Amino acid sequence: MANVAVIGAQWGDEGKGKVVDWLASRADIVVRFQGGHNAGHTLVVGNETYKLSLLPSGLVRGKIGIIGNGVVVDPEALLSEIERVRGQGIDVTPASLRIAENATLILPMHPALDRAREVARGERRIGTTGRGIGPAYEDKAARRAIRVADLAEPQTLADKLDELLLHHNTLLQGLGATVFSKEAVLGLLTRLAPQILPFAEPVWERLDEARRAGRRILFEGAQAVMLDVDHGTYPFVTSSNTVGATAAAGAGIGPAAVGFVLGIAKAYSTRVGAGPFPTELPDATGQLLGDRGNEFGTVTGRRRRCGWFDAVLVRQAVKVGGINGLALTKLDVLDGLPELKICTGYRIRGAHYRHLPAAPGAQAAAEPEYEVVEGWTGSTRGARSWAQLPAQAVKYVRRIEELVEAPVTLLSTSPERDDTILMRDPFEG
Ligand code: IMP
Repeated sequence: MANVAVIGAQWGDEGKGKVVDWLASRADIVVRFQGGHNAGHTLVVGNETYKLSLLPSGLVRGKIGIIGNGVVVDPEALLSEIERVRGQGIDVTPASLRIAENATLILPMHPALDRAREVARGERRIGTTGRGIGPAYEDKAARRAIRVADLAEPQTLADKLDELLLHHNTLLQGLGATVFSKEAVLGLLTRLAPQILPFAEPVWERLDEARRAGRRILFEGAQAVMLDVDHGTYPFVTSSNTVGATAAAGAGIGPAAVGFVLGIAKAYSTRVGAGPFPTELPDATGQLLGDRGNEFGTVTGRRRRCGWFDAVLVRQAVKVGGINGLALTKLDVLDGLPELKICTGYRIRGAHYRHLPAAPGAQAAAEPEYEVVEGWTGSTRGARSWAQLPAQAVKYVRRIEELVEAPVTLLSTSPERDDTILMRDPFEG
């Protein structure tokens, strides 16, 4: 029996929430392994809508949720999210939620620095979520981060804060932002420690036990391959690795335990934040896709940029992300369009490419080469079997499979959890 990792195959917001929720109902444990509360998942269960940022989605289904070491945890954001979902009747206790003791914390200077730097970048801003994700991962790599386990050691906290504040206050001052006092941050951490520590443990041990007992583990990715710090459209990316392989390192388990990697892709493309987007449609069609697809960021509320399906990028995501099968979402947004376009290559400064090169200048210059596909009349919305889809819609999906070199193993046809066509059960490997 395989475990499953779910990752985004485009620039995020592909509808991972619904797919993860659907798979979570069939898993025993759900693990977040990278990112932080920059992610936003909307789960619709019956009449309730849950908006999750940091909590693993499985909690809503009564499963054990684990926040792995690869996640950057803002303790205040975590506690308020716990309060919010408790208010919706979900029981979040140390029995249902475990946090890696070696996970990095996001502290108040991280969002402050994130925002101050975005302001300083001006026109060249990345469009971050302003949640301090980048600065927290920088501190981790620089070996000055405060981690969950440090909350149990007052002296460690005090010593680490000296180094941390020296670094951050120097930067904040240079950027004209407010600096932080040691007393204030230490006071905050001392107050939060007893609320966070009951959730902390070496989660790798629990995962190892679960794996040996044949439990089903679902690894829940955040963001997406084109936002990966190595493989994405750098520097317009997030600060973690978002590929399937990260599930292992970010949870503390071997790569073989990750199992099936399910990539989520929309039937078109969207992106929030700045950066290259070769198939973007800054016209009425882009507007139409955005309106129909309700394309507003869960975390930022910003309108998402929209464009045609980019098979070049999704193929690249399939390869570097280790994607075994795709879940295609929001096909219904394309219902009734007379013709559709799929990007099959780029022209960059007169040359043909079948991948997006790494250099920013080349990425910005990429002109999509399109294949035009006939649209369909009739609706795909709510379809629950392949046979209910218009023939032309099936052709569109089949063409995507060929171009991205991965099978579509799951098709989502509305936000409703059960409006899903399953071609192959990822848990069966
Ligand atoms: P950061 O992760 O806040 O540093 O933001 C870096 C980039 O990733 C920005 O373009 C954000 O808009 C984007 N980003 C971060 N999290 C998400 C997400 O969950 N969905 C879509 N884009 C995201």
